[in-house]
Amino acid sequence: MVTDETSLAIDFDMPLLLDACQAAGIRTEICSWRDPDIEWDRFDAVLLRSPWSYVERLSEFMEWCEYVTDVTVLFNPLPVVRWNLDKRYLEDLAAAGVPVVPSGFVAPGADPEEALRAFLAGHEQAREIVVKPTVGAYSRDVQRFPRSAETEAAIYVGKLLDRGSHVILQPYLDSVDHDGETNLIHFDGVYSHAIRKRALLLQDGTVDEPTQEARTAREATEDERAAAAAALDAAAAHLELRDPLLYGRVDLIRGADGKPLVLELELCEPSLSMPFSEASATRFALAVSARLEEISRKQKNGQS
Ligand SMILES: Nc1ncnc2c1ncn2[C@@H]1O[C@H](COP(=O)(O)OP(=O)(O)O)[C@@H](O)[C@H]1O
Ligand SMILES: [Mg+2]
Repeated sequence: MVTDETSLAIDFDMPLLLDACQAAGIRTEICSWRDPDIEWDRFDAVLLRSPWSYVERLSEFMEWCEYVTDVTVLFNPLPVVRWNLDKRYLEDLAAAGVPVVPSGFVAPGADPEEALRAFLAGHEQAREIVVKPTVGAYSRDVQRFPRSAETEAAIYVGKLLDRGSHVILQPYLDSVDHDGETNLIHFDGVYSHAIRKRALLLQDGTVDEPTQEARTAREATEDERAAAAAALDAAAAHLELRDPLLYGRVDLIRGADGKPLVLELELCEPSLSMPFSEASATRFALAVSARLEEISRKQKNGQS
């Protein structure tokens, strides 16, 4: 189970998952993806859990994922990780008819003021906008601006573009202020449990991290479950996957019409909020166990 030195302490799933794997008879080790002494080919499978320092070391992390894929089995698999690390996947989901948060994408080299003006013109109802890099996690570099602060927002977009980031522009969906965001966790493509995450972009410009305190258990509604299933199905179809995803988290916020919209699809290293659902770690361990059996069957049959 892959983490890193800085992330393990804030991975609240790991202790539960370790116990559940042990109970399921799976031998596990906690490893840092940055540890040069680990022989990754020793493992039947390598599970990405909390390698969250990758955000500042993206190319190093991708090279490591490629290496691991060469020598053993990576979960989720490399093409999934590659696609999912950049929020431009929202474009693919939208193209497949999945309801996603309306998003404008700006590439490095574009004129930030022009891009922002065009986005605002296309979203006249948006009183506030959200600017974020397409690669990011833990609310890092996500900012909220009132419509009247177009100049400040453009400067911020320019700053992200200058460092080489692609940028997403979205209307600020204010349902999050009273209803929060819903994260739906799935194992093997099957819904397991959900949490509510409170709004993290505060009105005064403070950006909160998605700590445990920001979360509470929540039962996902029928329409949320349908939206999440549509997102996972679209991802599987887009990536031409043969098996359901071992794990996946779909984050939803309701739009102005009350319908759930996909904010994020987390298929690489999502926090799974296991402390909020007692049986979830066991469900995940059983799903892992079934994959390990399949791997061993294939090895016996001489296929890798
Ligand atoms: N369009 C939006 N409307 C309202 N809140 C948003 C929007 N986009 C992001 N946020 C807030 O910012 C947080 C972080 O943004 P998110 O897209 O989830 O990126 P990250 O990958 O950093 O988690 C969300 O949990 C949510 O509270
Ligand atoms: Mg998020």
